[in-house]
Amino acid sequence: MKSKVGIGLIGLGTVGSGVVRLLRENAEVISRRLGAEVVLVKAADLDASRAKALKLSKDVYTKDAREVIESPDVDIVVELIGGYKPAKEFIISALENGKPVVTANKALLAIHGEEIFTASEKCGAPVGFEASVGGGIPIIGAIKQGIAANNIESIYGIINGTSNYILTKMTDEGREFDDVLAEAQGLGYAEADPTFDVEGIDPAHKLAILANIAYGTPINFGDIYTEGISNILPEDIRYARELGFKIKLLAIAKLRGGEIEARVHPTMLPEDYLIAKVDGVFNAIYVVGDALGPAMFYGRGAGDMPTASAVISDVIDISRDILYGGNGRMPVASFRNGSRKKLPVMPIDKVRCRYYMRFTALDHPGVLSKISGILGRHDISISSVIQHGRDAGSAVPIVVMTHGAVERNVRKALAKIDEQDVISAKTVVIRVESAE
Ligand code: NDP
Ligand code: HSE
Repeated sequence: MKSKVGIGLIGLGTVGSGVVRLLRENAEVISRRLGAEVVLVKAADLDASRAKALKLSKDVYTKDAREVIESPDVDIVVELIGGYKPAKEFIISALENGKPVVTANKALLAIHGEEIFTASEKCGAPVGFEASVGGGIPIIGAIKQGIAANNIESIYGIINGTSNYILTKMTDEGREFDDVLAEAQGLGYAEADPTFDVEGIDPAHKLAILANIAYGTPINFGDIYTEGISNILPEDIRYARELGFKIKLLAIAKLRGGEIEARVHPTMLPEDYLIAKVDGVFNAIYVVGDALGPAMFYGRGAGDMPTASAVISDVIDISRDILYGGNGRMPVASFRNGSRKKLPVMPIDKVRCRYYMRFTALDHPGVLSKISGILGRHDISISSVIQHGRDAGSAVPIVVMTHGAVERNVRKALAKIDEQDVISAKTVVIRVESAE
């Protein structure tokens, strides 16, 4: 039996550097768990200074990723460069060379996952992607294995560390959006293009992966309704607090009547819900299984060492198959290939939830009854209203919390309300997840 498993790393940035450090720091516990050493035999990065900072030897470092893929000493290729091109080509080519792949690249898996999964099945080489969702939280393994006996009813995830960090600092410290985003970038949490984080694209990528393996269906990424946190204003955070809620960027997947509800948007959650207490860079995935009931997986959702922890867990898992046999035992997408079924994603128009609405209305008698009349005619009933102070003749905020309503009706009602003379700005709407 081999006494060593050779790994080849492509990308020595935040996560790649974390992987090198963790392999060194925890070499003993890793080899005791595996029964063999995990050795970094090749590492590629375009920037040689990264290899220098990590004190990688000349034999190990290369600028050329192809050397990693083609080295006979590399048993597992770890892709950590991010993006679509050339990451996809590197992964497919490694698989075609019969080499298992580990990747943290959720953007790639969300868009080209099926192609990669098919290549993996065809080549008989697994793909590990634990680090692609929830940073260090072992949620992929949990869905594929730990809770495999369940029909998964719903998933609620705070799965973007950068957005959660920003919302937490805005809520707790009253800080400015741009200032906190710059801090999150400095801490290595944000994507190379941070609009992926703050516009909800990154958590939508992760939701596509989760829904795929939870429900055994390919997900068309473009069908996921996606809204980020860039329009969240301090006043809505304050009103949320006054109503006993917190605003979180939530990724939601539910199986409803043969359709998958899959959406990412800022969401108001009662502040006493466990998931509403998840702050800073921490992520949480709250999963409801039919046998298990609710379970919450919590931990650091971004950063070098937590993500390296997830990457190396895949390396260890795949190494066990290499050393002791068992390749093919675990389907790459969690369900056996022939038993995956394409399920449609429910259009956002059909979604039903509660809504927070902040109207900017002229302080005239009868304004509230005008608003409530239009809402009522669209089958939307009000659960509470806040209006502070009076300022006759000028615009004041009126905050309304509704009972459960259908999104299509909400959109129609707000279009009607926003065209009234007494309304002086576009109404702000935030979806609410809570019991009635
Ligand atoms: P970084 O940008 O920090 O690192 C990427 C590295 O890859 C850079 O050093 C880059 O070099 C190098 N690189 C780019 N193209 C090539 C190439 N063709 N050949 C060799 N090297 C190349 O990214 P992260 O480490 O933050 O992220 C890596 C992956 O992990 C991404 O998919 C990301 O989404 C994912 N991820 C990141 C997390 C985090 O907390 N940062 C958490 C979970 C997942 P150069 O800078 O010179 O272009
Ligand atoms: N940019 C991502 C985040 C990294 O902030 O969650 C982890 O996937």
